[in-house]
Amino acid sequence: MTKKTFLITGGCRSGKSRHALKLGNLFPGRRVYLASAEPLDEEMEERIKKHQIERGTDWITIEEALDPSSVLKNETAKASVLILDCLTLWISNMMMKDLNRESILKKVDELMDECKRFQGTVILITNEVGAGIVPDNELSRSFRDIAGETNQKVAFKFDEVVHMVSGIPVTIKSESPQAPSEAKDSPHEFSQEKKQGLYEAIYKRRDVRHFISRPVAPEVLGRVLDAAHHAGSVGFMQPWNFLVIDDENVKKKVARNFKKASDEASEKFSGEKQELYKSLKLEGITEASVNICITCDSKRFGPNVLGRDTIKETDLFSTCCAVQNFWLAARAEGLAVGWVSILSQKQLKKDLGIPEHVFPVAYLCLGHTEEFYEKPMLESAGWANRLPLRDLIFYNKWEGDPIGPSIPLPGPVL
Ligand SMILES: Cc1cc2nc3c(=O)[nH]c(=O)nc-3n(C[C@H](O)[C@H](O)[C@H](O)COP(=O)(O)O)c2cc1C
Repeated sequence: MTKKTFLITGGCRSGKSRHALKLGNLFPGRRVYLASAEPLDEEMEERIKKHQIERGTDWITIEEALDPSSVLKNETAKASVLILDCLTLWISNMMMKDLNRESILKKVDELMDECKRFQGTVILITNEVGAGIVPDNELSRSFRDIAGETNQKVAFKFDEVVHMVSGIPVTIKSESPQAPSEAKDSPHEFSQEKKQGLYEAIYKRRDVRHFISRPVAPEVLGRVLDAAHHAGSVGFMQPWNFLVIDDENVKKKVARNFKKASDEASEKFSGEKQELYKSLKLEGITEASVNICITCDSKRFGPNVLGRDTIKETDLFSTCCAVQNFWLAARAEGLAVGWVSILSQKQLKKDLGIPEHVFPVAYLCLGHTEEFYEKPMLESAGWANRLPLRDLIFYNKWEGDPIGPSIPLPGPVL
């Protein structure tokens, strides 16, 4: 995982903050929003409140009008992504404290050093203030000049620079400084572009429950199934089968199975949690143009399968690898997948005529969707949040030392 530095520039109300949040939301873990705005009057107070509501509870807001470097220093081991909103307000705050051009630019250099040291991804927001007519007073001209010089400094040092024009992000600089050194790591490494594609499939894969009626092209389905078939399996057992279901009557049977199982499951919760459960859409069986049931035949090449003596469930593990391949390949093809496990296995096997010794591992809805959710639907619905990766890694022993800075975990490489 590599960290990145982004500068987002643009005019007033060009969509800078929205784009920064969209980008920042791609990074799991602790997200920090560093605001340089001070609520000096009612209008500003309103604006700040509006921005806080937009960010929701996923972001920790820290207000610091004059010394953002100190916040970066403090947060470096903790945050996976930090947005600083915004450079131009920070400059104006410093000017209001009578700092001169040299002192301000020195502070900008210090901030650049902190951004470099920061372990996570940094997203700075700034304004393009120099494009209009020449301001009629010296203070405004000086502000315009310092802001311009600052933007140049940052844009030169940062990896990616995006210019927001009427809400549309236009990338004006894109580079990965890590690429040359990474390339030396292994002669077998994929090119930057290919890696990007793989990571994009991983991070943009979503479990989707909303489908549109557009059919899945057979040749695309073929590619996705072949990707699934290229998963690893214990002793090369390849225990999977793929039941492709497009008969509406069969889908309806499975949908009835889901409804019954889901009603029963909702009874396990009570109060608000139960209400929330009932409001969730947890399947798209009849909407999706195709359903695929991926099964595991525990007797394939049996009874002695190389590597399966000690852990019998490795046949199921192998099938899950096929499911994940299927899910990722589908995402790369622009197809949505929704896994439905809230089903009676017994009923499903009966409805699909699956033999006794074969286990239906995954019932998947496959089709086109209007949009892929930006984050897990259960996260948006307030059911659960992604756990911090840092808390899930131990060194050498279960619950051993917490991981140190030697493994940087800055978030998705996108
Ligand atoms: C084994 C398994 C079973 C799942 N079963 C269901 C299900 O019955 N209904 C549902 O809506 N989502 C189901 N999901 C999807 C998860 O809710 C989803 O993967 C999780 O919330 C994370 O979201 P994401 O996949 O979009 O990253 C299942 C996922 C897995 C891996």
